[in-house]
This record gives sequence, structure tokens and C-alpha cells, in this order.
Amino acid sequence: MHLPNYKEARTRDLRPYKRIEFKEDSEVKDKYKGKTFYLKTYGCQMNEHDSENIEALLMFLGFSKVERYEDADLVLLNTCSIRENAHNKAFGMLGRLKHLKQEKKDLIVGLCGCMAQEASVVEKILRDYKWVNFVFGTHNMYQLPEIIDKAIEENKQQIEVFSREGDLIEGLPVLRVNDYKAYVNIIYGCNKFCTYCIVPYTRGRERSRLKEDVLAEVKKLVDDGFKEVTLLGQNVNAYGKDIYDDYTMANLLEDVAKMGIARIRFTTSHPWDFTDEMIDVIAKYPNIMPSVHLPVQSGSSRILKLMGRRYTRESYLELFHKIKDRVPGVSISTDIIVGFPGETEEDFQETLSLVRECQYDNAFTFVFSKREGTPACRLADPVLQEEKEERLQRLNEVVNHYFLENNKKLVGSEVEVLVEGISDKKHMYYGYSDTNKLINFSSKKELAPGDLVMVKIIEAKTWSLDGEAVE
Ligand code: SAH
Ligand code: SF4
Ligand code: F3S
Repeated sequence: MHLPNYKEARTRDLRPYKRIEFKEDSEVKDKYKGKTFYLKTYGCQMNEHDSENIEALLMFLGFSKVERYEDADLVLLNTCSIRENAHNKAFGMLGRLKHLKQEKKDLIVGLCGCMAQEASVVEKILRDYKWVNFVFGTHNMYQLPEIIDKAIEENKQQIEVFSREGDLIEGLPVLRVNDYKAYVNIIYGCNKFCTYCIVPYTRGRERSRLKEDVLAEVKKLVDDGFKEVTLLGQNVNAYGKDIYDDYTMANLLEDVAKMGIARIRFTTSHPWDFTDEMIDVIAKYPNIMPSVHLPVQSGSSRILKLMGRRYTRESYLELFHKIKDRVPGVSISTDIIVGFPGETEEDFQETLSLVRECQYDNAFTFVFSKREGTPACRLADPVLQEEKEERLQRLNEVVNHYFLENNKKLVGSEVEVLVEGISDKKHMYYGYSDTNKLINFSSKKELAPGDLVMVKIIEAKTWSLDGEAVE
């Protein structure tokens, strides 16, 4: 048994990590043939991509996938810790599974992902959820086959959570959700320690994959006919800093662009590490999509300082305008937190004025959520929750206004769309434009997911656009 420990998770040592090639243990291969699994994923793209590895590992054990948890022999929750409601959702699901397990005694239930890294969650599971069969952390994912096998064979709760990142595991099997767009991890973990955020504790220190491993994965995707790749990391801009002296995110983006895949995206970019070289590369290569996610969190320099974001309102705006000026037609999206401890109405007004200046194409807005163990958790927080909710409403009205205004500017133009599927309405397809906007459109010609088509925009809505494929 390994239990999570925040003290350890907080430390960052500079010992070099090893690159380990994952080896599948053939003894357990297909051992559970005939059994089924249901995997529920919460959280960010990193978790979604981890789930693609988890599914492949479960299939390796012989499990096959079902679409309803009621039909499964094994249910696994890949959880997220970012805000309290992510927690509540996972515990709500555990409640439903408890009932199911009363009827279905053999049901195996497991929990993994970021919540598994939290000491308080694991304590609760040990105390109140003794019926949960296994828990493993984000640094132990590669041990899934042996942990599940042991939980079943020994019929005893398994808790295996390494507090610290270990080695960097390459070659995990992967079952991609799509055959035309793919996630590729380039850097794990986060060293930024923004004072509100739990990710540096749940995902460990920043570890870049070797450029050769990233490029080999992209090459395989190109050979397999993939059209879009999204380079993933909590802060992709820090790529390479931990292992190379002279190879950066700008270099990696350029090398990936040269491989000729139709579309390249990357997420998330912390404004701190966004270099001029990166901007130049994005502007230079047409297959790097003109779409940047640039979380601002707050428009008040005072709050940004308390958040530990390492930039001011002014330096953020300078970067924002530099990207807008140098990358033609670029769309910029953001994340914003309202109600950070001590945020005054004046601070909030600064966020509103920044939003009016930036006129974002998309924004994910949140009310501050206290995460146990983070520094912001200990700050005095006199503002009432209702007031914070009200600020969120006011902010949403402003951001939504600009989504619509920006979308309206596209009416009459032609945009390239990567087809994702057929929408509910007959003869209607949907997909995303180069600037990452959701487009619903009709087409006389039959299309398939993964096709790239030009679409003429007819109508703008707040969160999507309607159009028709150009013959
Ligand atoms: N690495 C990314 C963010 C990942 S988390 C970055 O730095 O940009 C995604 C978003 O969740 C953050 O940008 C932030 O807006 C929000 N978030 C993180 N912790 C939060 C908390 N404690 N309460 C509310 N929102 C939070
Ligand atoms: Fe969290 Fe900040 Fe790291 Fe993003 S950069 S994951 S917000 S600590
Ligand atoms: Fe959530 Fe973990 Fe991602 S906390 S947002 S799943 S890194």
C-alpha cells in the first residue's frame, strides 16, 4: 500500500528521471476475457488522454467496453480535483455505485486520476468506502494491470498512490477515441504553483518527454492518416526547459509543423513562458492553427500577485496584443477565476475592463474553489459566496457578448472545418474551424469524420456558427 502525501508532492528535486519503456506483463494478458468495463472521465484533456491509455490497458487485461455503468463488471472513475464540484460529481457517482454493488456483489469499483493523489480523499475512502476495490494515482497509471489483478485475486482493497512522480514511462498502449485527431503529451506536471491550484500537487514536477519520442508519435499519427494533433501539457510553453539547453517549445512546434500534419493545436499556454520565437513559429506555419488559449485568471495586478501568476495586467495585455498583431486572424480564449480570496468590487471591475479590451473568442469562467493544501486556502475570504456567484453572472454576460460579436464578423466568410460528425438534425454536420469555433453546417456531398471542408458561414450564434459546405 502506498498513500498520498502532500508534503512530498510539494517538493521539487532536480534528480534526473529515467525514461522507462513500458512492458506489458503477458501473464495477465486476456486474463479477464468476457468481462466488461465502464470508464468515466472527469477533468481536463490530460485526463481524457490518460483515459485513452487506461482503456487500452483494460483491453489488454481482456475487458471489453460497455456504454452503461449498470452493465459493467468493472467501473473505474478517472477523477479531477480542480474544483469542489468535480469532487462532488465523483463522490455522487460512488454513491450510485454503492447501491449497484449491493445488488451486484461481484462488481469491481476503482478510482484513479487527480483525486487519488489527495490524502483527504484516500483517507475518506479508507474510512467510509471500504467497498471500493482499488485506488491508483496519476504516477502509477502504468501499474493498472497488476493493481486490478491483485484487487480481484486477493479480494482486498488496493491503494497504490505514489506521492511523487517517478520515472517517465514511454510506450503505454493507447486506444484513441478518434482516428483523425489525437492528443500527444509533451510535458507532464506543473511547477508554477499558482496559489489556488492543486495541479502541481496531483501531477508532480514538470517533466518533458524527449523530442524524439514526441516526434516519433506524431510521425506515426501522420502515417496513420490523422489530420489534427493537440500537443498537451499544463504549461506547454515550458517544454524542454527541464532537459534541454537549446531546444524549446518554439523548436518543437516548428519540428511538428514540418512533419506536414494538417492541423496542430497546443494547450495550455501560461503567459509567463510565451516567447517571441513561439509567436513567430505560429505565424509562419499555416498548419499551426491560429488559436491560442491564454488564461488570464484576473484583470487586477493585485489579485494576480496574490494568485502567484508571475505577470501583471499590463504585461499580459502586452503579450495579448503582440499575438493578435503578429498572427493574422488569431482567436484567443482564456480562463478567468472570480471571487479569489479578498477580490474587491474594484478588482472585479478590472477583470471586466480587461475582458472588454481583449474581446475573447472563448472563455472558461469559474468561481474560486478552496483546494485543501494550497496557499490560497488559508487566505482571509470575506466575500460572500452569493456575491461571487453574482460576479460570475455579470462576467458571463460580458464574455458571451463578445463571443457573439466575434462570431458575427465571420458571417459571409469561408472557413476550413475538420468534420467531426453528423449533428442531430438531418443532413447537418459539425466540426471545428481553424480558429476552434464550433460550426454546424449542411452539405450536399456526403462527408465523413476526419474530412476537411470549406464552409461558408451563414449565421452566428453565441457558442456556434451555422454554414453550408462550399461545393
Ligand atoms: N495549466 C492551466 C490551467 C489548468 S486548470 C493554466 O495555468 O492555464 C484550468 C483552469 O481551472 C485554470 O486556468 C483556472 O482558471 C481554473 N482553476 C484552477 N484552480 C481553480 C480553483 N481552485 N478554483 C477555481 N478555478 C480554478
Ligand atoms: Fe495550476 Fe498554475 Fe500550473 Fe496552471 S500553471 S496548472 S493554474 S499551478
Ligand atoms: Fe483536473 Fe487533474 Fe486535469 S485536477 S483539470 S484532471 S490535471
